[in-house]
Amino acid sequence: MNKTARPAVLVARAVFPEVIERLRGVFEVEANPDDRVWSRAEFSTRLAGKQGALITGSERIDAELLDAHPQLRAVCNMAVGYNNIDVPACSARGVVATNTPDVLTETTADFGFALMMATARRMAESERFLRRGEWTKWSYDMFTGSDIHGATLGVLGMGRIGQAIARRGVHGFGMKLVYHNRSRLAPEIEAALGARWVGKAELLEASDHLVLVLPYSAESHHAIGAAELAAMKPSATLTNIARGGIVDDAALAQALREHRIAAAGLDVFEGEPALNPALLDLPNVVLTPHIASATVATRRAMADLAADNLVAALTGGTPPTPIDPGVPRRA
Ligand code: DGY
Repeated sequence: MNKTARPAVLVARAVFPEVIERLRGVFEVEANPDDRVWSRAEFSTRLAGKQGALITGSERIDAELLDAHPQLRAVCNMAVGYNNIDVPACSARGVVATNTPDVLTETTADFGFALMMATARRMAESERFLRRGEWTKWSYDMFTGSDIHGATLGVLGMGRIGQAIARRGVHGFGMKLVYHNRSRLAPEIEAALGARWVGKAELLEASDHLVLVLPYSAESHHAIGAAELAAMKPSATLTNIARGGIVDDAALAQALREHRIAAAGLDVFEGEPALNPALLDLPNVVLTPHIASATVATRRAMADLAADNLVAALTGGTPPTPIDPGVPRRA
């Protein structure tokens, strides 16, 4: 690279114009003008000559791509989840990979809780009924669901967002809390939440409302499949705001069809934006298009943080939120 030239970066998806303008003040920027999701081949072609990229979950960064672009020094994800990035492959090549934790925690927890409530109280199903003009009388058992207050909230994956959902359930709704996570919460946090760490089997059996907030990885692939669904209460609900692929969507559709659990709320799907068509026909599932972090303020904070990371990584600064803080920088 010519040492006096400004670094070139790729912004792979549309983002707030103000954020692009800010990047243009520092870098030569190629942005995605029409927000088309580029094929892998097109993404790779556009990465040619770029030292950095601001990406989203739609773009996969792996060893093959990194080897094709040895000039690349930073990949900055506008998402907290980073299952689209092979972090060890980046670290091994001195490429800084960053994500956007913290800024979306409370917003995502709000949504997770709302989706759980909509699921338990049959909001989407009853709204569709009303819009179809089928509401002709009040009935004692019309769209009866299950209570949130006083029920047992189960959280699988007790990171920042899991804890924020737990706080809402315990402090806002008087829920009892069981959770399963590789590492236990600090005793003072457990005590403040009245949280009980349990094995996965007990979590499945005890939860009235089970919320998934764990990262996607080879180990969490299909963490909830037919056997796990069979272990849940028939009255239970399942909410997934984590990642598609953690739930076996085909097994879930079958369990919902056979009323082996009461209902599910899904914001993420295996192979999204494609959906298992079986889910679309079921009344007892609330479906949303991966919007848990989607408030204007939070999406702006995510974009700003991704841009902060990109600027720092390529101008000799310290990126605020590296995924692997120990990565030695490529010169
Ligand atoms: C995240 O930040 O990981 C959200 O799922 C948005 O992709």
